[in-house]
Amino acid sequence: MKRPRLKAAAILTESPFPHYQKGLCVWFTGLSGAGKSTTAAALADRFTERGRPVTVLDGDVVRSHFSKGLGFSKEDRDTNIRRIGFVAAEIVKHGGVVICAAVSPYRATRYEVRQLIGEASFVEVFVDTPLEVCERRDARGLYARARRGELKGFTGIDDPYEPPDCPEISLDTVNNDVDCNVRLILEYLVQEGFLRGRAG
Ligand code: ADX
Repeated sequence: MKRPRLKAAAILTESPFPHYQKGLCVWFTGLSGAGKSTTAAALADRFTERGRPVTVLDGDVVRSHFSKGLGFSKEDRDTNIRRIGFVAAEIVKHGGVVICAAVSPYRATRYEVRQLIGEASFVEVFVDTPLEVCERRDARGLYARARRGELKGFTGIDDPYEPPDCPEISLDTVNNDVDCNVRLILEYLVQEGFLRGRAG
């Protein structure tokens, strides 16, 4: 029996997935200790609860695996971000959800990964915690070491952080707790049609 032939134009223009099943990348950027990993993990839990598989690419974890050996020069940071961006793009291409959390201090490199992943699937979340607050939290004592000069090229101390001009979402971690911030992100994703139903 002859199989019906699909029209090429239909294959090219019509996504087989409704918007809420399309790939999505939520990209957290911000200083070390800003709250990126914590918020990213809590957001990932909410996807899992909804039965949507999610991959988390966290800077600290990535650096112990496929970015092992990279340092914190501009070149190495860019390589790290491009690697994360490449994996994220592959996941998004196949309709998956990926949550990335990396300092990603350079605007141009973040723009590059945005283009690679695709504007329509990229949600940049700026975890806008002031340096003084990150420094006060200093869970691993890295800021103190950077201030003492034992750690060179530390973001925010003697290395640049370029905040996003126009992030899709900006989070305040001083006045809002993690649950509140996760709800804000979910509300945005529902509003933009990435998720169905309520954000709570
Ligand atoms: S990025 O610049 O390449 O995006 P990434 O998010 O992977 O950085 O890693 C940042 C983490 O590495 C920080 O949270 C901190 O724990 C650690 N770290 C070690 N040295 C530095 C440094 N010089 N600058 C920033 N973070 C550093």
